[in-house]
Amino acid sequence: MNLPPQVTLVTHPLAQVPLSALRAEDTDTVRFRDALNRIGTVLLVEATRDLPTAPVEVRTPLAMAVGARWQQPLVLVPVLRAGLGLLDGMRQLLPDVTVAHVGIARNEDTAQPEPYYAKLPACLKQSVVLVVDPMLATGGSAIETIRQIKAAGASEVRFACVVSCPEGLDALTTAHPDVPIFTTAIDEGLNEHFYIVPGLGDAGDRYFAT
Ligand code: PRP
Ligand code: URA
Repeated sequence: MNLPPQVTLVTHPLAQVPLSALRAEDTDTVRFRDALNRIGTVLLVEATRDLPTAPVEVRTPLAMAVGARWQQPLVLVPVLRAGLGLLDGMRQLLPDVTVAHVGIARNEDTAQPEPYYAKLPACLKQSVVLVVDPMLATGGSAIETIRQIKAAGASEVRFACVVSCPEGLDALTTAHPDVPIFTTAIDEGLNEHFYIVPGLGDAGDRYFAT
């Protein structure tokens, strides 16, 4: 697949090695959670690499130095449930980050997104918003989540996932061409049940041991 310009494939080994653990069917819950946390940290690094900072003066024990501070706040939006699995790894780097929530469940027969919850703070308008979800399959859940976030006033939105596929990337880049996408894998495609192949199975069930 030719990568659309807004898609970044995150090839860092610190993400690719734990991704193998996520995929393996015999990975237990503890190792699955640990691997998803680690990938979350790397995804946050990649998805924020170009965010602008402003200079700030700091006094060291010896002299003044020029440091950096964020120009805009960052808000993380995990798509419930499985998106929560990326959050701990991201909060390792940003312990005080604002977290908003959107709940979407895919209909098991049609794979259509069914929204069931949203808690979106007013600060979305002036923030960079990073939507996170381990899986981008048909793209329906991500498209609906980003629609809600934009409707709430956000103008700068990014999306980070672990496993994607051409169908989901096509759908998301078509629906929201302004949204940069960061993914650690682009798999072959969807099977007849709209699951990513080879994928890793049901991310939410494996993370929450349900
Ligand atoms: C999974 C996954 C994404 C969605 C991806 O969630 O975490 O949110 O499916 O599929 P899509 O791109 O076709 O929309 P699911 O709806 O299974 O809910 P869960 O997180 O509660 O397990
Ligand atoms: N949701 C998942 O958890 N896995 C898939 O492969 C597709 C959607």
